[in-house]
Amino acid sequence: MVLRRSEVLKVLSMKDEIATVEEAFREKGMNAVQMPPKQYLFLEGGDLRAMPAYLPRLGIAGVKVVNVHPGNRERGLPSVMAVIELVDPYTGRPLAIVDGTEITAYRTGAASAVATKYLSRDDSSKLCIVGAGAQSRRQLEAIVEVRDIRKVFAYDVVRAAAEGLVRYAESMGRNLSAEVADATRECVESADVLVTATPAKAPVILNDWVKPGTHINAIGADAPGKEELDPAILLRSKIVVDDYEQTIHSGEINVPISKGILRKDQIYGELGEIVAGKKPGRTSRDEVTVFDSTGVGILDVATAFSVMRAAGARGLGLTVSELGL
Ligand SMILES: NC(=O)c1ccc[n+]([C@@H]2O[C@H](COP(=O)([O-])OP(=O)(O)OC[C@H]3O[C@@H](n4cnc5c(N)ncnc54)[C@H](O)[C@@H]3O)[C@@H](O)[C@H]2O)c1
Repeated sequence: MVLRRSEVLKVLSMKDEIATVEEAFREKGMNAVQMPPKQYLFLEGGDLRAMPAYLPRLGIAGVKVVNVHPGNRERGLPSVMAVIELVDPYTGRPLAIVDGTEITAYRTGAASAVATKYLSRDDSSKLCIVGAGAQSRRQLEAIVEVRDIRKVFAYDVVRAAAEGLVRYAESMGRNLSAEVADATRECVESADVLVTATPAKAPVILNDWVKPGTHINAIGADAPGKEELDPAILLRSKIVVDDYEQTIHSGEINVPISKGILRKDQIYGELGEIVAGKKPGRTSRDEVTVFDSTGVGILDVATAFSVMRAAGARGLGLTVSELGL
């Protein structure tokens, strides 16, 4: 089966994808997956990554190939585009080629939702999103599924992008009050939950702005040299990563670790360990928690598999017999 973007969008549902992503993290927490760290090629205007994963208990294996080219918006292309191949683990037979661009945004949103569920204060009602690009809408849609968010603040260096996110929030039919922040500080200071989704290579969020009890989903830093948070924030926070090896190499913590500001033993744990019940999530109202999200292949493969089954049930998708698909 070949599934195009329009077909993928017909079957994606944030509620379902949050459940799928939570299950994939639980499997990882139980050491029941195979997932080598993603491999990078550094290209002219960005990078290309290969992300293989196998979830034996779900009965699916696969690989995502994805780029990040931050200048693409000027070319009329998304910064992040992806294709996922799913494979039958028993025979190696290709099962599907699935457009992965929307799946990437949904599963990244869903990962933040799972982290927010386990790590944010349960009375969190104010959400700040810094970086109002392609990921931001799915972050918003996911987080409102797990917390009773009433107020959304959006900040982007391109004001029109933040205005677009505000209009989107108002159109969601959830009675959200949304406003554009004039400065990053204003957005961050008012937040119970903060999402950072920029391609920044130097901190854009300063320590003084982050109030006690805040939960941060740091999703932008997903390659070596990228960082969004003042390292002083990490030093006072409970740091939860999606994957130890990947985050040390390319997550929010990669720069402070490479400079010797942060030690590996200051990482609290992986989100999967918390979901699997091996470690507690938030343990006090005042602690600052950081989810360092680099994006893990198990989420892509598990989400693409659920999309493939839902699409099959609705008769969607192309058959390409020459490819055995
Ligand atoms: N963790 C993950 O799993 C994951 C998944 C997908 C994308 N990402 C990363 O998330 C980031 C955003 O991806 P996207 O697809 O939304 O990109 P995008 O290009 O669509 O949006 C990025 C937005 O950030 C804004 N921005 C840039 N610098 C800023 C700053 N200093 N302050 C505020 N806003 C700023 C830009 O104007 C733009 O609107 C990228 O770095 C990407 O690599 C991570």
